[in-house]
Amino acid sequence: MTVMTHSMMFLALGALAASAAGVPAWARLGPRSFWWGLGFPAKAIRVYLTWAHVAASCGLASKRRRWRWTLDAVPVAGSLHRTSVLLAERRRVRRVEVQRAPGLGLLRPNRRGWAVRIRLHEGQVPGDYMRAAEQLAHAWRVHAVRVTATAPGRVWLLATRTDPLTNVSIAPEAGELLTVRPGMLETGQPWVIDFRTVPHWLNAGATQSGKSNLANAIIKGLSPQPVALAGFDLKGGVEFTPYAPRLSALATTRAESCDLLDDLVRLLADRMRTCRDHGARNIWRLPEPVRPMPVVVLVDEVAELFLMADKSEKDQVSRTATGLLRVAQLGRAFGVYLIICGQRIGADLGPGVTALRAQLTGRICHHVNDPETATMTLGDLDPAALDAARAIPADTPGVAIVTGQDGSWHRARSVLVSEDDAEHAARTFAHLAPDWASLTRTGPLPASWPQAGDDAA
Ligand SMILES: Nc1ncnc2c1ncn2[C@@H]1O[C@H](COP(=O)(O)OP(=O)(O)OP(=O)(O)O)[C@@H](O)[C@H]1O
Ligand SMILES: [Mg+2]
Repeated sequence: MTVMTHSMMFLALGALAASAAGVPAWARLGPRSFWWGLGFPAKAIRVYLTWAHVAASCGLASKRRRWRWTLDAVPVAGSLHRTSVLLAERRRVRRVEVQRAPGLGLLRPNRRGWAVRIRLHEGQVPGDYMRAAEQLAHAWRVHAVRVTATAPGRVWLLATRTDPLTNVSIAPEAGELLTVRPGMLETGQPWVIDFRTVPHWLNAGATQSGKSNLANAIIKGLSPQPVALAGFDLKGGVEFTPYAPRLSALATTRAESCDLLDDLVRLLADRMRTCRDHGARNIWRLPEPVRPMPVVVLVDEVAELFLMADKSEKDQVSRTATGLLRVAQLGRAFGVYLIICGQRIGADLGPGVTALRAQLTGRICHHVNDPETATMTLGDLDPAALDAARAIPADTPGVAIVTGQDGSWHRARSVLVSEDDAEHAARTFAHLAPDWASLTRTGPLPASWPQAGDDAA
C-alpha cells in the first residue's frame, strides 16, 4: 500500500515537472499551436475573471445603486470600567453603490490576439474606449488594444499580442485601378490607399523615417496599372531614378519642375475642356473612348521646391507654388493625384503652402522630431493619434500614423521596397508608361487663368 502511495506521488511529481518544463518549450517551439491550445484559453479566462476590476480601474465601469446584504458593525455600550467599545455585527439589506462593468462579449481569437465586442453603458462614447486603450493593453498584458469599429451602443476592440508591424511583407499591387497596398495596418489588415476616394496625400516625417520608401512602394503598386506616373525629385533624382523607365516624366531641377508643372496645368485645362464638351463633371463620367489616363504625381522633399537661394528664384518658386496648388485643386475631378513628401509642410516654406496642405486630405505621419510637425501633419485629428505619432521611435522607419477615409486613424508600416525590386518593377512595366508629350496635349491655357510668374495664392 505504502509502495503504491509513493509511486503515485512520484508519478504526480513527474507529471508536474514535465508540464513545468514542457509548457515553456511548447510556447517556444510551437508558438501558434501553443496560442490556440493553451495561451488563448488561459488569457480568455483571465480577461473574463478580471473584467470587473479592469473596467473599474480604467474608468469604464458605471456606478449603480443596488440592494445588497451588508454587514454593519454596531457599537454596543460596554462596562463603564472598560475603555474599549464592543462591536456587534448585524446583517441587513440596504441600497449601496456598486460598480458595474460594461458587457463584454465573446472573445474571438485570431492569430495575433483577439477581438471582442463591448456594449457601452449609457453616457459612454467610443472615445472613452480609445482613451482607455493603453490602460487596457497593460491590464491584459498585450502589445496594444485598438477600437476597430463602432456601432450605436457598441464598440469592437482588437487586442494584439505582439506588434504586427515588426516585419511587414505584402505585395503593394492591389489589382484595382488607382488602389495600392503599400503596407500593413496594426490590425493586421492591408493598408490600402485608394486615390479615387482620397486623391491627394501628404507624407511627412523626419529624415530617414521612411517617406521615400513609402513613395517607392506606391510607385511599385501603381506600376502594373494603366496609370501615368510623374515624379519631382529635387534631391538630384536619387530617389526616383530607379523608377525612371516607368515614369512618364521626372523633374530633378527647379527649372524642370516649373516646366513639368506647366505641363500638368495644361493637361488639366485640356481635360476640363473635354469634360465640358461632354457635359461631364469629371473624367470618370466621360465615355470610355475619350476618358484620359489618370496621372499620379509624386513629389519628394517638397521643401526643395520652395527654397530660395536668392531673389532671382522668387519667380520660379511662385510659379511652382501656383502650379502645385492648381493641380491639387483641380486634380480630383480631372484624374491627377498628388503625393507630397516632406519633412514638414508649414507656412514657413512660403506663400501658398497652407492652401496646398488644406487640399491634401490624406495624411501620413512618420517619425517626427518635434510634436508640432505631427500636429501640422495630422491636423485636428483625435489627440490619441497625435500621441501615437509622437511615440513612433526613430529606429522603426516606415512606421506611420495614417488617416482613414472616415476620420479614423491607424498605425501602419510600409513594406520595404529594395532598390533591385524597384528597378525590376520599373523595367517590367516600362511599356505601360505613356509618352509624356502625347499625354499632355499642348492646348492653350484659358485666358482667365493666371499665367506663369503670377504670385501664388
Ligand atoms: N517600411 C520599412 N521597413 C524597414 N525599413 C525601412 C522602411 N522604410 C524605410 N526603411 C529604411 O529606412 C531608411 C530610410 O528610409 P527613407 O529613405 O525612405 O527615409 P526618408 O524619410 O525618405 O529619409 P530622407 O528624408 O533622408 O530622404 C531606408 O534606407 C530603409 O532601409
Ligand atoms: Mg527621402
